Amino acid sequence: MSQLSFASDNCAPVPPQILEALARVNHGAMPSYGNDRETAAVEARLRALFGWPEARVFLVASGTAANALALSVLCPPYGTVFCSEKAHVHEDECNAPEFYTGGARLTLVRSGDVITPESLRAALAGEGNRGVHGPKPAALSVTNVTEMGNVYTLAELEALGAIAREAGLPVHLDGARLPMACAALDCSPRAMAEALGAEVVVFGGTKVGAMEVEAVVLRDGARAEEMAYRVKRGGHLHSKHRYMAAQMAALLEDDLWQDLARRANARGASLRAGIEALGVPVINQTQANMLFIRLTTRQHQALKAQGVVHFFDEGAPDETVPGRLVCDWSTTEAQVEGFLEALKAAL
Ligand SMILES: Cc1ncc(COP(=O)(O)O)c(C=O)c1O
Repeated sequence: MSQLSFASDNCAPVPPQILEALARVNHGAMPSYGNDRETAAVEARLRALFGWPEARVFLVASGTAANALALSVLCPPYGTVFCSEKAHVHEDECNAPEFYTGGARLTLVRSGDVITPESLRAALAGEGNRGVHGPKPAALSVTNVTEMGNVYTLAELEALGAIAREAGLPVHLDGARLPMACAALDCSPRAMAEALGAEVVVFGGTKVGAMEVEAVVLRDGARAEEMAYRVKRGGHLHSKHRYMAAQMAALLEDDLWQDLARRANARGASLRAGIEALGVPVINQTQANMLFIRLTTRQHQALKAQGVVHFFDEGAPDETVPGRLVCDWSTTEAQVEGFLEALKAAL
């Protein structure tokens, strides 16, 4: 890998607080499979964070597992989940939602990355309800921060949540980058979940800094028993659970998640300002930690040829594919400067 990585927040190192938390729980025996005090404490803290006293929490090690399991308790095998045509659950999870639901399908909302009220209404009308001859509309899935680095405002989430409620659909929030979305809007996870009326929220820990932990938060206990069986059957009930819990506990301690997310977003803002100052268009409009830039084929090739910066472009160094740049908690201003210098040289 080249020295300056803007490839993904998955490429980031782990902050010391997380490693210290792992060391803190690394003493003696503790009950396994989530029956330890660390896990109980994390559940209590997430209940408080979301303001859901009855909430149940399941910790898993990947965002794909978190999403697929979440959807599996919302959608029966004969149902369909409405989601953006760019949704990670559709484009990047190898049909895990279809697999975990036992055969449900996804209905794509056709408005690019961001679901608009009009496009959601059109998708609902298009799917209709043909009784047993078609899939049963079962859930809405919304991602914030979106796959293209956009951030839904609370008002936008409210509008989508209201349509889902009208249609009788429970809502799943893919929050792999929920900390960054909350930091961008300066709002709490609770405010975001309430605006959307979410039934199940994935509170992402990995992209904001943890080694590997995502929390699936069920608003109330109603689906918890089913979820417990599904987690185990899916192979996601970790035996030495305290280590996953410790990572989440560290993120929640003194709102570390917020601090890390703000850092990532701040570097994203510097990067955007610098790129725009060089006259290169940034495609996505909102401010989190992920940018998509449009380069000409020559610029794209010149930038890659330097071998200094690493970013995601689906292996196609030309103008048909936007470059994706992601900052994380550890990105420094010097690294941002380094990217801007390389870009300037390529222009
Ligand atoms: C929006 C979103 N959801 C879910 C995931 C899935 O995470 P994982 O790669 O840990 O399965 C990702 C990962 O990139 C993502 O960007």
